Amino acid sequence: MKPARLTSLLLVFAIFASTISVAAQSRAINRPSQADIEKRIDALLARMTLEEKLGQLQQLDGHADGNFRPEHLDLVRKGQLGSFLNVRGAKNTNAVQRVAVEESRLKIPVLFGFDVIHGYRTIFPIPLGEASSWDTRAMERSSSIAASESAAAGVRWTFAPMVDIARDPRWGRIAEGAGEDPFLGSQIARARVRGFQGTDYSSPDKIIACAKHWVAYGAAEAGRDYNTTDISEVTLREVYFPPFKAAVDAGVGTFMSAFNDLNGVPTSANPFTLTQVLRREWKFDGFVVSDYESVRELMNHGLAATEIDAAREGLSAGVDMEMVSRLFNKHGAQLIKEGKISQATLDEAVRRVLRIKFRLGLFEKPYTDEGSERTSIFNAESNAAARLIAGRSMVLLKNERETLPLNQTLKSIAVIGPLADSQKDMIGSWSGDGKAEDAVTVLAGIKSKVSPQTKVSYAKGCEIVGDSADGFAEAVRLAADADVTLVVVGEAAEMSGEAASRSSLDLPGRQLDLIKAIHATGKPYVVVLMNGRPLTINWVAENSPAILETWFAGTQAGNAIADVLFGDVNPGGKLPVTFPRNVGQIPIYYNYKSTGRPPDVNNKYTSKYLDVPVTPLYPFGFGLSYTQFQLTNLQLSARSIRRDGRLTASVEVANTGKRAGDEVVQLYIRDMAASRTRPVRELRGFERITLGAGEKRRVEFTLAPEHLGFYNREMRFVVEPGEFKVFVGNSSVGGLEASFEVTEK
Ligand code: NOJ
Repeated sequence: MKPARLTSLLLVFAIFASTISVAAQSRAINRPSQADIEKRIDALLARMTLEEKLGQLQQLDGHADGNFRPEHLDLVRKGQLGSFLNVRGAKNTNAVQRVAVEESRLKIPVLFGFDVIHGYRTIFPIPLGEASSWDTRAMERSSSIAASESAAAGVRWTFAPMVDIARDPRWGRIAEGAGEDPFLGSQIARARVRGFQGTDYSSPDKIIACAKHWVAYGAAEAGRDYNTTDISEVTLREVYFPPFKAAVDAGVGTFMSAFNDLNGVPTSANPFTLTQVLRREWKFDGFVVSDYESVRELMNHGLAATEIDAAREGLSAGVDMEMVSRLFNKHGAQLIKEGKISQATLDEAVRRVLRIKFRLGLFEKPYTDEGSERTSIFNAESNAAARLIAGRSMVLLKNERETLPLNQTLKSIAVIGPLADSQKDMIGSWSGDGKAEDAVTVLAGIKSKVSPQTKVSYAKGCEIVGDSADGFAEAVRLAADADVTLVVVGEAAEMSGEAASRSSLDLPGRQLDLIKAIHATGKPYVVVLMNGRPLTINWVAENSPAILETWFAGTQAGNAIADVLFGDVNPGGKLPVTFPRNVGQIPIYYNYKSTGRPPDVNNKYTSKYLDVPVTPLYPFGFGLSYTQFQLTNLQLSARSIRRDGRLTASVEVANTGKRAGDEVVQLYIRDMAASRTRPVRELRGFERITLGAGEKRRVEFTLAPEHLGFYNREMRFVVEPGEFKVFVGNSSVGGLEASFEVTEK
């Protein structure tokens, strides 16, 4: 598509987007006041039996196809089931809801939840991909589209956003989050909650969000999913908590307690995280659902010897709703009878669940309009947004001798690789109700981009995994005949996501050999990567002329990749996570602490490896463009500020190249000496800007106490006097430097 056409499409899209949100707001139900809600809950609690109360605390796994288990419907009829997961489609959810609100005694509606992680039917890039856009407005938009599609299908609750900080790419679920940084992660958490919930989630096109997995699930030892974590309180507060706090500040309705053990107390039974931090310190008043069977798993952890103990541990720690295992239901009555759980604890959990149902407007409007699925789901506008956001998510890792963008007048292009024409992989893991057959592959995207005169050839070359090189000869023949070759390689979609940890980060199977075979032709080629985690791609980084990181870019992947490869979209994404050179460097992240012996090549007895440099292959925040940017003239508004003071940092950014493009300007700080050691850098501001060729702009950031403080030895958040450095650049390495002083008075 020509840039002009793309711009007009964007404009139509923007106008359409604002019309929908206005229309949606006006349709929001007239939500009762909070005081009224609490009164109505009091009235219900006064009438509910013990079984009905316990029922509100239960979520069961239903079916998408409308074949409900008769015993599940029976529970609904008896008012003993609060929520289903996985039931979707307005006809199906309405059928269950009818039983709840027409046949049950107290007519309490059922809440339907589903993993709408990066789209419902229109699939956007995987969250790690979207995070690479550093564009919070885009992420708010994709979450908002996901919300309207899922609400139209009767699902008013998503188990997203996943806001787990992940510093270990072996962990497959790194794909579902925003990467390694708490500051970026917090901005993204806020944007996603706003996108899903809007300002009033009783609006029929909004859904409630769920901040998960509370907490530190992403720190699983050895990157092995579900594994144990052992993390100091200060690291929890500074690294793992912030995106969750941001979600609370944005008004998130629910939390999900995680699977992992945390410092000896599994997170689905951890009173410190569930009650002390979440309820007392942060005043969260929504409800907490346990992750799938994590209450029952308290027995596997060895925290509970029996089912009844597991139920007591979970409920008393602060889990309100139990997902799939049924121990609260089975043993709740006995726990109450024996006084091991107080009536007040039980009522409080029920209150939190009902509060969210009231806020959603489910009591006023329990049914979904069955006509709206046709118009709201997978329409042209959502697809246009998916294409646009996918384009903004791509990261150009290398571009030697201006291999990219490709020339529209090429006579022939070879599209090679096991991921070049694989629809099912485009939509990544956790792809909601997304359909492989909707997805545009690279081959399809290229074919629809080029003119009929350009010959496009295709060969798979090899499988993603496996030893066979039988397809190499054909691939090499096509590459040798083509003006340029695209080698589309990486991981299969199911190699990241839940229960998909890897001990190697190399390209699986024979894919590296395939790249080497294409390389040997001596013809120009581009490596197009698809993956749910950082990969170790040293040979490619050193030898291949161009590398485009596309993650799993969603339904519109192929079109968006073609937009970027041909320069209709100038790539502006930046890595939200560090790419190691070697799996042995893990954990490797930009905001590490200095050792007493920082690495020094001339001194053996400093902190480094014998066999690999300490630096990453690609640092956090890194990404190239088809144009060049220059940052100059970093200015601070003050040389010194008081502990409670603020200052601004501004920098001039110039596009010194020949085409318009985007730069993500990043601001980092370092507190040079403090009563507790501080990271060598901490991201404290960023802005993605677009500049025309030759255009200049001053970008300004504010630094306030919340950016400068840390948790001291008494676990109090403080700003300490002393010197701070400021770095402003286009990645976490290098950049312009300035410093200022924080003074006592
Ligand atoms: C288990 C996963 O850990 C969680 O993220 C998901 O929301 C639930 N299953 C429900 O599917």
